[in-house]
Amino acid sequence: MPVHYNTHTKEPYLRLPTPLSNIIITPHRLSQLEETVAAQVRLLNEPTIYLNLEGPPYPYLPEHGEEWVKRKCDDGEPVVSAVRAEFENPDTEKPFFDSCPFTVIREVTEQGPETGDPLKDVLIGDIGMDRYSFYEEGYGTEKRAEAQRLNNELSAGDRRIVWSIGDFLSPSHHGRGIMTLAMRTVLQDWGVPRMNIHLLKSCAFVENKGSLRVFEKNNFEVVCTLKDWAPVSESRGGGTKSLVIVNWKGL
Ligand SMILES: CC(C)(COP(=O)(O)OP(=O)(O)OC[C@H]1O[C@@H](n2cnc3c(N)ncnc32)[C@H](O)[C@@H]1OP(=O)(O)O)[C@@H](O)C(=O)NCCC(=O)NCCS
Repeated sequence: MPVHYNTHTKEPYLRLPTPLSNIIITPHRLSQLEETVAAQVRLLNEPTIYLNLEGPPYPYLPEHGEEWVKRKCDDGEPVVSAVRAEFENPDTEKPFFDSCPFTVIREVTEQGPETGDPLKDVLIGDIGMDRYSFYEEGYGTEKRAEAQRLNNELSAGDRRIVWSIGDFLSPSHHGRGIMTLAMRTVLQDWGVPRMNIHLLKSCAFVENKGSLRVFEKNNFEVVCTLKDWAPVSESRGGGTKSLVIVNWKGL
């Protein structure tokens, strides 16, 4: 059963395989807004994390976290409700979805002795899939905007959609194989069977050996290196960064 169901909280979730089955990936929880924002603010201001990320603002403020978590809850709710309905009524139709609501990586600290349901957990990271950004078309070009527009127009389940994946993990948990298995779990248990993902590209800054290794261990190959591709804001140190583009070869 690729997606698990917490019978206590009625929350669907993904679980990493042994020996990391104490790690789960859940949707965002509005009921835990405050602690989630606090964890995100802590992690996304860590130099070992923010210096390797292209996306989130830096410094990362509580209002950024609050806006993000609320948006993720809103966007994810229809999918989470549909999956919950599948568990409550197994005859429910199983369509392809346009997103993965399982983005919050948590370490389970207490679970039900009989059901095995997670009862308590702590947020340790994030993994998200989005439509690809077509970096190789050039920074700020019309061609890139057009490629993004065409890709964004494709409907849920269309196998021509080019997807992308990004992640970060608390430094306290680096180097234990967690992100390698988290990426595999998200693709294997949700991306392929429930989003029909066939095309997946991503990127990492050229110096981010850990991230590139996680991609490699998940069957990605290097396509090219885009030298000095991205201007870096002054708050992040300024200058430009080179990007390595990777392409997924399948499960
Ligand atoms: C990248 C990141 C998600 C990896 O998570 P993780 O759970 O520590 O990764 P894993 O333990 O599954 O695998 C890491 C691999 O990279 C290797 N690695 C880590 N740092 C390395 C370095 N500086 N040089 C070479 N290899 C390195 C590890 O040895 C391991 O490979 P191995 O299993 O062959 O030994 C984590 O380091 C992180 O959050 N970094 C900051 C944010 C980030 O870079 N996000 C990705 C943006 S593209």
